[in-house]
Amino acid sequence: MVLIVEKAQEADLQRLLDIMYVAFSKDSENRIMFPVIPGPEARGASIERWRDEILMNPTIRFTKAVDTDMNEIIAFARWNIYQVERSESEWKITEPRNWDIGTNVEAANEFYNAVCGKRQSFMGGKPHCRLNMLVCEPQHQREGAGRMLLRWGLKLADGLGLEAYLEASSEGHHLYETAGFEDVGTLDMDMSKYGGHGSHRHFVMIRSVQQIHGVENTSRPIP
Ligand SMILES: CC(C)(COP(=O)(O)OP(=O)(O)OC[C@H]1O[C@@H](n2cnc3c(N)ncnc32)[C@H](O)[C@@H]1OP(=O)(O)O)[C@@H](O)C(=O)NCCC(=O)NCCS
Repeated sequence: MVLIVEKAQEADLQRLLDIMYVAFSKDSENRIMFPVIPGPEARGASIERWRDEILMNPTIRFTKAVDTDMNEIIAFARWNIYQVERSESEWKITEPRNWDIGTNVEAANEFYNAVCGKRQSFMGGKPHCRLNMLVCEPQHQREGAGRMLLRWGLKLADGLGLEAYLEASSEGHHLYETAGFEDVGTLDMDMSKYGGHGSHRHFVMIRSVQQIHGVENTSRPIP
């Protein structure tokens, strides 16, 4: 299998959402927040947000890993590249998020607000690269797509001289640790009030600027 990393396009959005929903549905915490995988007709909120990001937000980079044998997207990453200092009005999230139909809005809002709080307290308006999302379709996991997409963003971060920031699931933690990220905090979410079992932990991780080794197979440069 030959994998390449390319810039994702507006036309890819439904496929990216398929991958996101199915990859996160393995996790019990995510199944509470997103108890059903919404069909294409129920994804208006995500499609609208991601389309706006792809078309109009210069800090966003959506990249996709494509299996060239099947000509199919199997994984993707969503990065924010903040090259300059931002004022509080730019980085402080004040507006509620619109969710796709079928979302457990209360649970999703609690998690989203907690995640935003961590981001804002650790990074504020500081220039940095944030890995906002990294997901691989379950049947293609452990084939190297996640690491390839991560390396793409870290190469960019190193080239720009920027720290990288993320909140890791336990599935992603090893990948990030071996790419140079270090734990700087944790985020615990109690899902019992939503019918789940106990607390779920995410790891707040930061990677300082460094030189990464390894060559990705990219078909063309992504601006
Ligand atoms: C995390 C994720 C993106 C990794 O993608 P992937 O394409 O499988 O990653 P790779 O094949 O490049 O593997 C990278 C490393 O992660 C490890 N890894 C992959 N899946 C793992 C899992 N479920 N648990 C622990 N380690 C895992 C691999 O063993 C590999 O480590 P190694 O090189 O030391 O052997 C993928 O498992 C996923 O989509 N998970 C669900 C969504 C999620 O949790 N995303 C991360 C949010 S922060």
